[in-house]
Amino acid sequence: MERTLDGAVAVVTGGARGIGFALALGLAARGARVVIADLAGAAAAAARLHETGAAAVGIDVDVTSPDDTAAMAAAAESAFGGLDILVNNAGIYSTLTPRPFEAIDPAEWRRVMEVNTLGPFLCCRAALDPMRRRGGGRIVNISSGVAFKGNPFMAHYVASKGAVVSLTRALATELGRFGILVNSVAPGFTLSDGVLDNPVLVEGVKDASLRTRVLPRDMHPADLVGAVCFFAGPDAAFITGQTLVVDGGAYFH
Ligand SMILES: NC(=O)c1ccc[n+]([C@@H]2O[C@H](COP(=O)([O-])OP(=O)(O)OC[C@H]3O[C@@H](n4cnc5c(N)ncnc54)[C@H](O)[C@@H]3O)[C@@H](O)[C@H]2O)c1
Repeated sequence: MERTLDGAVAVVTGGARGIGFALALGLAARGARVVIADLAGAAAAAARLHETGAAAVGIDVDVTSPDDTAAMAAAAESAFGGLDILVNNAGIYSTLTPRPFEAIDPAEWRRVMEVNTLGPFLCCRAALDPMRRRGGGRIVNISSGVAFKGNPFMAHYVASKGAVVSLTRALATELGRFGILVNSVAPGFTLSDGVLDNPVLVEGVKDASLRTRVLPRDMHPADLVGAVCFFAGPDAAFITGQTLVVDGGAYFH
């Protein structure tokens, strides 16, 4: 593996499992030192990264908390001397039950919006000064292909991931002058740990998604590593404000 991220410090939110853990592993394999920030299991996930020879720390963070997200950025600076890459991956999806939009509880709508949109906002805000101190940085926001397809029965989730695409564009515009590049990756239906724990999703979506793909196989967290590491690395030095759909060719963006 080419060590394109040697010396960089990366924070991955929701990195304790699922897509986030695969991204943490991929960033570390390319030489990044990694801070795993998660509601639960961050220290254990960092220990698993250590076993691969990576430099990693774990920190308990709720991305909807201004204090926690500030502590997250401070932890990157104190553990590794700076912050270069922020991957906004933490999100609510796999625990949701699909239902018609009129049956969505407003409290659930608020919580989805909080985690999936306030969370990335707070994490970007916390990363701003550390990245400016480094003279630049990379932010990669995990959106979803549903933002483009408008999938039914998860209107709050679909709306939240559309907001992530728009936030990516707005922040790219604001932060370019600081050398901070902001891009987004929009995954298709991925057999993450959380998804595999939810039989309703697996039974309801897995085969239907597969049938929409040009590349007809299941999608796994590792399928997202290349796109995220590309946006985080030297080959993407003149790319900002973009969203790359990674879904086996189900949607042509
Ligand atoms: N799995 C899919 O099919 C799919 C498709 C498109 C986009 N995504 C997006 O990818 C990201 C990861 O999804 P996944 O399927 O790997 O999920 P997952 O459920 O397997 O893991 C999510 C992780 O995020 C953490 N998390 C949740 N809320 C948090 C909070 N408030 N603060 C900090 N951490 C929090 C969880 O503890 C967990 O470790 C999400 O943003 C999701 O919306 C997933």
